[in-house]
Amino acid sequence: MPSLTRVLGEAVGQAFAAEGLPAELGRTQVSDRPDLSQFQCNGALAAAKLARKPPRAIAESVAGALRASGTFADVSIAGPGFINLTLTDAALGSHIAATADDDRLGVPARAEPLTVILDFGGPNVAKPMHVGHLRASIIGDSLQRLFRFLGDRAISDVHLGDWGLPMGMLISEIRHRRPDLPYFDEGSSGPYPDTSPVTLEDLEQLYPVAAAACREDPERLKEARAATAALQAHRPGYRALWRHFIDVSTAALNRDFGTLGVRFDLFKGEADVNDLIPPMIGHLTAVALAQRDQGALVVPVGEADDKHEVPPLILEKSDGAVMYGTTDLATIVDRVQSFDPDLMLYVVDQRQHLHFEQVFRAARKAGLAGKAEMEHIGFGTMNGLDGRPFKTRAGGVMKLQDLIGAAAEQAEARLTEAGLAADYPPEERAEVARMVGLAAVKFADLSNWRMSNYIFDLDRFMRFEGRTGPYLQYAAVRIKSLLRKASDQGAEPGEILPPTDVERHLMLELSRFPDAVASAEAKRAPSELADFAYSAAQAFSRFYASCHILSEADRAVQASQLALSALTLRTLERTLDLLGIEVPERM
Ligand code: ARG
Repeated sequence: MPSLTRVLGEAVGQAFAAEGLPAELGRTQVSDRPDLSQFQCNGALAAAKLARKPPRAIAESVAGALRASGTFADVSIAGPGFINLTLTDAALGSHIAATADDDRLGVPARAEPLTVILDFGGPNVAKPMHVGHLRASIIGDSLQRLFRFLGDRAISDVHLGDWGLPMGMLISEIRHRRPDLPYFDEGSSGPYPDTSPVTLEDLEQLYPVAAAACREDPERLKEARAATAALQAHRPGYRALWRHFIDVSTAALNRDFGTLGVRFDLFKGEADVNDLIPPMIGHLTAVALAQRDQGALVVPVGEADDKHEVPPLILEKSDGAVMYGTTDLATIVDRVQSFDPDLMLYVVDQRQHLHFEQVFRAARKAGLAGKAEMEHIGFGTMNGLDGRPFKTRAGGVMKLQDLIGAAAEQAEARLTEAGLAADYPPEERAEVARMVGLAAVKFADLSNWRMSNYIFDLDRFMRFEGRTGPYLQYAAVRIKSLLRKASDQGAEPGEILPPTDVERHLMLELSRFPDAVASAEAKRAPSELADFAYSAAQAFSRFYASCHILSEADRAVQASQLALSALTLRTLERTLDLLGIEVPERM
């Protein structure tokens, strides 16, 4: 079913068409001035230029036709020719009744579903996930949920950072410490031990040490480069050792993403496209897109009208090593071969914008992207209370597990303070605390426009009042409890009646769900959904405070109000699900 603004836009469009004007002028939106009207259409202003008539005169004719339709309680003209519209309660009530009957809550499924690749998460082997990866994971997951809900084929890929110099650094660092290990025996081609010589903790400690050694000692850097090249050239011992890094890291990452409730369809890495690189470079060289520049092989991607300089994309350094951009380009080749996507979204820190600009331009020039549109979905940084990029108290990177553990702990304390989940069995209470902690962290992230930086303040995120995840969970849980109580006394949701004064605002809010979904999609912005969830929850809370559903004597009114409550619950749960937030049964 189409959204309410869509239905109204079509009705107003017909009135424009009857005047010999384009029906698109009927585009109708929620009013900027809810005190004056529910909806507004500004099309008469544009129409005036086309028709060479004063906008108010056109607005008057359109308004006349709309008044005659019987759908509106009020049609008026404001200012230079804005058409203000207020529905009859019957029309609003029947739209909401139809929404309640719709599985998709008024959001049309895509007529021609798209294949969408979502590249997000992007953690690196041997390095703990940092808060940038956390943001990528939370925002990317919400977008994958959104595209799935729209009916698209969404394919998520973590694009693990498992290739390149960091791997060579680790290999040569281990070689320095344990030259006796079989992986370093040059003459041998295995077999090698099944168990890893390093644990995750080892890797996480080794990497910074190895990186520092390479910074300080050119000899060590040379070794690391040589190890990288040998790994990329499939030297068996190095491949076997590297495989252990991957396995050890992937196990930990799977646990982290599991805790976060984020799933990927593909857990591919940069290394997976290694063998696609030589033919790709061959092609780029053959079509003369790749050029030698001071020994390196590059693709120039600058354009005459660039406002800032866009340097060439480096495919291969003079020592033959491939780069971050090379694997990204080869990954495009891989994705186009496997899925022929319509759209590829890269949810990655805004500071990598130039990198993606270079990669996308090179891919387009070389015709590697097929029919796919490519977009970098950037985001800002998460800062600490001091306004600087978030660190632990000790100044290190906060590990995801620790962060989520801290959130669940604070959630426990808040539940106690608020007297919630008080007498529940311990497992259920812990489960509620887990959900509340995660909701606090996710909602705080998603409720900001993604490009803004924000301050990580667990205390504030965890409040049960205001724009927080816990507030929204609690709002949904309260409706569940209302419906249970009603059911216990024999009252069930029934037919939705036209609204009275207390219901009108809530109905209008609920009718906006499809618009919120549409703008979240258009802007690639889960914050649109977060805003919607908050205003819907507030509208419910006002409605709930001004009626007495459980003691309502008129059974038809009671049944209608219960149905409206149930619809609010479904809408909230659906919106929270799109944000990756779970709602407990009770709390
Ligand atoms: N591993 C990268 C990093 O930590 C992020 C990868 C993003 N995705 C991509 N296709 N480049 O910065």
